[in-house]
Amino acid sequence: MVTTTSTLLLLLIVCFLISSSLAANVTYDGRAIIINGERRVLISGSIHYPRSTPDMWPGLIQKAKEGGLDAIETYIFWNAHEPTKREYNFNGNLDFIKFIKIVEDAGLFAILRIGPYVCAEWNYGGFPVWLHQIPGVEMRTDNEIFKAEMQNFTTLIVNMVKNERLFASQGGPIIIAQIENEYGNIMDKYGSAGKRYIQWCANLAETLNIGVPWIMCQQADAPPPMINTCNGFYCDKFTPNRPTSPKMWTENWTGWFQDWGQSKPHRPVEDIAYAVANFFASGGTFQNYYMYHGGTNFGRTLGGPYIVTSYDYDAPLDEYGNIRQPKWGHLEQLHNAIKAMEKVLVYGVANTTNLGAGLTVTKYIANGISDGCFLINANQSTDTNLTYNGKIYFVPSKSISVLPNCEKEVYNTAKVNAPTTLIVTKPTESIFKWQWRPEILTTIHEKGSFSNNSLLEQILTTGDTSDFLWYMTRIDLNKFRQYWSKKMKLHVNTKGHIIHAFVNKHFIGSQYAVNGAYEFVFEQTTKLRKGHNYIALLSSTNGLANYGAYFDLQRAGIDGGPVNLIGYGNATINLTSNTWTYKIGLNGEDEKLYLPSQQHSIKWFSGHLPINRPLIWYKTIFEVPEGKDALVLDLQGMGKGYAWVNGHSIGRYWPSFIADDEGCGPCDYKHEYDSNRCRTDCGKPSQRWYHVPRYFTTKGPNTLILFEEFGGDISKISLQKVSSVATTF
Ligand code: GAL
Repeated sequence: MVTTTSTLLLLLIVCFLISSSLAANVTYDGRAIIINGERRVLISGSIHYPRSTPDMWPGLIQKAKEGGLDAIETYIFWNAHEPTKREYNFNGNLDFIKFIKIVEDAGLFAILRIGPYVCAEWNYGGFPVWLHQIPGVEMRTDNEIFKAEMQNFTTLIVNMVKNERLFASQGGPIIIAQIENEYGNIMDKYGSAGKRYIQWCANLAETLNIGVPWIMCQQADAPPPMINTCNGFYCDKFTPNRPTSPKMWTENWTGWFQDWGQSKPHRPVEDIAYAVANFFASGGTFQNYYMYHGGTNFGRTLGGPYIVTSYDYDAPLDEYGNIRQPKWGHLEQLHNAIKAMEKVLVYGVANTTNLGAGLTVTKYIANGISDGCFLINANQSTDTNLTYNGKIYFVPSKSISVLPNCEKEVYNTAKVNAPTTLIVTKPTESIFKWQWRPEILTTIHEKGSFSNNSLLEQILTTGDTSDFLWYMTRIDLNKFRQYWSKKMKLHVNTKGHIIHAFVNKHFIGSQYAVNGAYEFVFEQTTKLRKGHNYIALLSSTNGLANYGAYFDLQRAGIDGGPVNLIGYGNATINLTSNTWTYKIGLNGEDEKLYLPSQQHSIKWFSGHLPINRPLIWYKTIFEVPEGKDALVLDLQGMGKGYAWVNGHSIGRYWPSFIADDEGCGPCDYKHEYDSNRCRTDCGKPSQRWYHVPRYFTTKGPNTLILFEEFGGDISKISLQKVSSVATTF
């Protein structure tokens, strides 16, 4: 017995010693992140696990590795993991532990940006809306309720990671973690409480004792030992707040996100490559692409409001995970060139010679290591034959040549020789035969509804458990005889984002906020009876704000109105303080019409398919073609709504929202980039194709359900295959 116990003990000690000997020691100094005593140049890329599916993860990570990345970065998405207080979900594409293990298996490092405020164009910046419903809570400031919840979730995540031994200090791949996100950008709006909060964040991080460095991005006063880092299109001019911190670029935006009503953003790869080379030439040693793969905002995860469902981002890997060329290839070549001079970049001394006319040469030198040079032509219009050490180098305008041994140019940011690819969609043989049923209109007499003598704010009322909230009231116009006229005007002031109005159960009109201004007035002339009239207003949201000081306090819905009836002689009957009855969500949502398992109890109609009628549910059963190509639904012709495949939400759709004319036209990479330039697809649907991950489909029959909010032509919908086709070599 004694022998067995001591053998066991010995085994345990051996296991412990083995695992701790595999542990990496990650620290930093004023030059770089140091792994096991070696300063490193690290090139990383963001891939957010919930924006793809687990079957895609190995492929994405492999393509990132082949693209020359050392690390994969992801945020952690609090509201996805804790949708209801203390009820957690880490399944399917929320299994972030599995994601990090795949990164580890690929031999890459991982960077965990816990936040738990993440921004990220993600619904409510990642905060669960139940947090907003706790009386007395104030987000992202020195507030005890908020801090307790933030601490609870952050600790839970860190403990999950520790239990799986995924920090580098435990032998795992995670070399860096982040707390908060760009708080420095908005901190002054929170006064001294903001300063106390960021100090508290730093203390919290430290007490979590993870054994690897913590970062705070865009936080000029990041308390030690937090490293403050830079986010932006260009970070060469950035200097960290302490000479003992390395120069790190946590978000190099490879493109941009898109709003409904906007055209598609693109960032030229020559500009990205220039920015990256310039960053390394000016002492930077860590660079992360945001995004390397953007993916899809499934379900109701998109933020904004009004961010589109696709989060393609014009990233090196497209929404579906295909390699986007020449972006991927041109950056891969840059990574090889930079890596070839890694040692001198982290151990050498830089000497910069200014040759005038925008030309500079930066040379890194160190004893016993070969030199590294950058020939920089910052001039936007003049190409140059630059003579250096007796040799002539052709450096086109606005470009940087990289010479790992200061003799041979191995790379120039403007000389693109990677192939070009184009994404093409091809029809599949899948046929859609549709059935339908109307959304059963809620009435004022509905059971389970509650009443209030005011017009309530929508987000606080629904807790964002649904996009929809019914506001219903009645009015006896016998009491307002002198104002009555056959046609009266219904006037509603709403904070958005969308409204559908019904009078006496007749639909009288819909309206949505136009880009940027979510508050609007809905006015519609309508027939009213002399006696009782029923007014029902269905308000819906389209993603909650994710950025800015006090973004969490942005309001939505009819919130205070006023709601007026305007009658004879322009007399106004104010309904704002009427008794309003409420219902959260659609009846179809209550019945879970979108779940295949519910179908036995649901009646669908086959004939007289409604076209262009609002609030209709549609269903079809279809087969999926074999193969590996990504699948998309072409929803051109539809209005706005929601789609589910086998009960999995593939997101909101809104192909009828046509992109404006902003930003299309010639795209010259030599100009400083901003996200309003180099756009395409002006005048076309902001998003026409919607990703159907193969992970959500089965070999047999698949169920597709749509809920159409505005009205659309269902007959035009088709399933298509996506592939990326090389156009030049
Ligand atoms: C940054 C933020 C990211 C993302 C990005 C824009 O400010 O940290 O989470 O929102 O902007 O895509």
